Amino acid sequence: MTATARPIRSFLRCCDAALSDTAPFEIFLVAPPGLEEVLACEARAAGFGPVTVQPGGVAFAGTWPDVMRANLELRCAGRVLARIGGFRAFHLAQLDKRAHKFDWAAHLRADVPLRIEVTCRKSKIYHAGAAKQRIATAITESLGAPVSDDAGLRLMARIEDDLVTFSLDTSGDPLHRRGHKEAVGKAPMRETLAALFLRQCGYDGSEPVLDPMCGSGTFPIEAAEIATGLKPGRARRFAFEDLAGFDATAWARLRCPDAPRETPLRFTGLDRDAGVVRMAAQNADRAGVGQITRFVCQPISDLTRPDGPPGLVMVNPPYGARIGNRKLLFGLYARLGEVLMREMRGWRVGLATSDGGLAKTTGLPFLPPGSPVAHGGMKVTLWRTDPL
Ligand SMILES: C[S@@+](CC[C@H](N)C(=O)[O-])C[C@H]1O[C@@H](n2cnc3c(N)ncnc32)[C@H](O)[C@@H]1O
Repeated sequence: MTATARPIRSFLRCCDAALSDTAPFEIFLVAPPGLEEVLACEARAAGFGPVTVQPGGVAFAGTWPDVMRANLELRCAGRVLARIGGFRAFHLAQLDKRAHKFDWAAHLRADVPLRIEVTCRKSKIYHAGAAKQRIATAITESLGAPVSDDAGLRLMARIEDDLVTFSLDTSGDPLHRRGHKEAVGKAPMRETLAALFLRQCGYDGSEPVLDPMCGSGTFPIEAAEIATGLKPGRARRFAFEDLAGFDATAWARLRCPDAPRETPLRFTGLDRDAGVVRMAAQNADRAGVGQITRFVCQPISDLTRPDGPPGLVMVNPPYGARIGNRKLLFGLYARLGEVLMREMRGWRVGLATSDGGLAKTTGLPFLPPGSPVAHGGMKVTLWRTDPL
């Protein structure tokens, strides 16, 4: 049995059915493989737990208020899944019968369309399409909810070792869509990945951040939000708002904004492209951190040390296959390294790139690199330094 399956199995043994709203159930936070431990640290620091690190995410036992708070407050999670129950099924007729008996109404509304996804592994039921059809029919017949592949609300059924586990995707749109970034440059970093990399660099909101190739401003905006204590999900909608039993009053109380913390720190984004600099400033204004961020159109060669205490340089320079030509990029990375060594003494550097050869060209004194992480069809690695 895999590490992933064990906690769900023991949990299902005790209830083998849908869950009541008050009983704890398994909540799974999705992380990019390789960064699960970083997300686990964030979840623990936010008071969730005890958490178990599993391939592709982090699990803990919690209730619906925890689901809402995880969606609202965690910066590093890609999605929040609620394991709502399950049963054993050794053949399709058994799946059909048990799916008809499952208490869908405890979680789903008859008027909200649902999308169903099924995966089968090491099970007598091996045909995901047939299993999906049985589950869809059961939900339509017993609850009346329409099932459609275009629906916003997603039910995931995993059939593994003849155990059917149902999970609801309580986030809906992935959590990197914070809800205030309308304008993006050519190769934007996902906000959740930016938050994971900031956390891996030990960033806790107590120092300034500068990105000399900021594109749409993801790093400075995330850092400014962390420093001011803004909740990442404050400006968006979540799929859990469409579930049966959604407690709108509790949600309104939970999401009620705290006043942003005052900070003397400034968050700087520079880029040679005037268009993306304008976008970054607009994104920061929409996020409510326009007053403490500064975006300037400036090539890396013109970088000068900002006034104030040292902090963290976070940068995601162009990399070969995604934007630019690799040969030309060697010169750019070498220049970046020279300028940072000259201007940013005492600052730490976090550099995210898919190309280790380019990272080394900077000549920066990197610590051993982190795990490569899938992003935009490639593997991106975070390279970190101690203070220069
Ligand atoms: C991969 S993108 C950064 C994406 C950014 N992290 C975001 O989330 O939107 C790389 C950026 O480097 C900028 N850039 C390339 N060469 C530069 C140079 N010589 N000086 C400053 N910026 C440069 C590009 O304009 C581009 O916006």
